[in-house]
Formats: sequence, structure tokens, C-alpha cells
Amino acid sequence: MEVTWYGHATAGIRSGEHEFLIDPFFSGNPVAVTDPETLSPDYIIVTHGHADHVADVEDIGKRSGAQLISCPEICGWFAAKGLDNAHEMNIGGYAGFPFGRVKFTPAFHSSSLPDGTYGGMPMGVLLELDGRNVYHAGDTALFSDMELIGAAGLELAFLPIGGNFTMGPEEALDAVRLLRPKTVVPIHYDTFPPIRQDAEAFRRLVEEQTDARCLVPEPGATFSI
Ligand code: NI
Ligand code: MN
Repeated sequence: MEVTWYGHATAGIRSGEHEFLIDPFFSGNPVAVTDPETLSPDYIIVTHGHADHVADVEDIGKRSGAQLISCPEICGWFAAKGLDNAHEMNIGGYAGFPFGRVKFTPAFHSSSLPDGTYGGMPMGVLLELDGRNVYHAGDTALFSDMELIGAAGLELAFLPIGGNFTMGPEEALDAVRLLRPKTVVPIHYDTFPPIRQDAEAFRRLVEEQTDARCLVPEPGATFSI
């Protein structure tokens, strides 16, 4: 599969004929280099309602007709804006899709939509594509149940390292130990001053202290796993 990190928590995945976009944040994102008009995902997955995760859901969703996969509160908020192709889920078990399976996992954070509407529980997401698992932690603190998420066997984990609003590098290193993914990509850092971090130092610690490979792509860069 082809994976693109667009900066912040925004990730794209292409697996066979299916294209996914997680937490689209291009408008107002100072590090994004991609024109969202060039994207045409089949599915948009949203972990929580904060503006830095939902900024471009409406535009990209309406233009592409992508199905929104998120919690009922977020799907309902976008339905009121005319985005009614949605699959509502919540934290817990898998749902089956033509491409594989999706499970939303706990995240320790908060979730309100840009107008203050309650956004439901914040979530991470486990995406099973062709039997291979990709985990996007969303915005979260470290929690020991990450070990249970990792038991699925993770090909790739997107983990926030920015600190201040989420895990920082120290906590994310512990998260790698619990999740045991093959590949780690740090996210949610360097977008704004409060979340400046040294991702290269994080990469070295991950590769020295765990069995995971750590990739630090530039925003907009694509890699294969
Ligand atoms: Ni957030
Ligand atoms: Mn965030």
C-alpha cells in the first residue's frame, strides 16, 4: 500500500483500488503543501471533531462523494451540512467494508466540533486492509491498553509526538513499545509553535530502543509499506 503524510495528523492511504484520507487538514494548515482539490478519496475517516482534524472534510467529501466514517456525533454534524454519505461507528468492534475492516479505538483527548458542538468520544482508528493493519492513534495521551491494540499486529502506526495537546516523544516511545508496530510515523508536531519537536531525535530513539522502523517523511511525501 501507498501511504502519504500530508502534515499534522492528515494521512492518505491507497490500497488496491481504495483510497482513504484520515483527518483532512489542509485549509489553515501552515505545513501542508498539497492542494486538497487534487485529492479524491473513496473514504474519509475522522478521529475527532477538532478543527485541525476536520477542516477539509466538507469540501473534499462533497466534491469526491467519499463516504465519511466516524462517530455518530461527527457524521451527524456533517450530515446537517449536506454530507450524508456516512457510516457511523463508535469505539469497540470491527465493521466490515468492501476494502476490509475498521475499528475505532479509545483515545484520551477531547472532541468538540469547530462551532462547539459535542463531538462524541475522541478515537483512534485501526484499519485492516488485505489483512494488514494500520493504526492512526488520533490525538491521545499514552495509555497502557495500546498493548491490546498492538496485539492485532501492526504494519504501520501513526503516533502523535507533539506534546502539549497529545503524547510527546517520550510517551510516544513508550507507545511504540506497547504497540510493537513494524513501522512508525510521527505526526501532530511542528505544525504550530506549541508542538515543535525534534522528529529526527525521536526516529533515532525508536530505532535504537525498539524493533520498529521509524520514517520521518516531509509533508506531502509518499512511501510504500
Ligand atoms: Ni484534537
Ligand atoms: Mn489535533
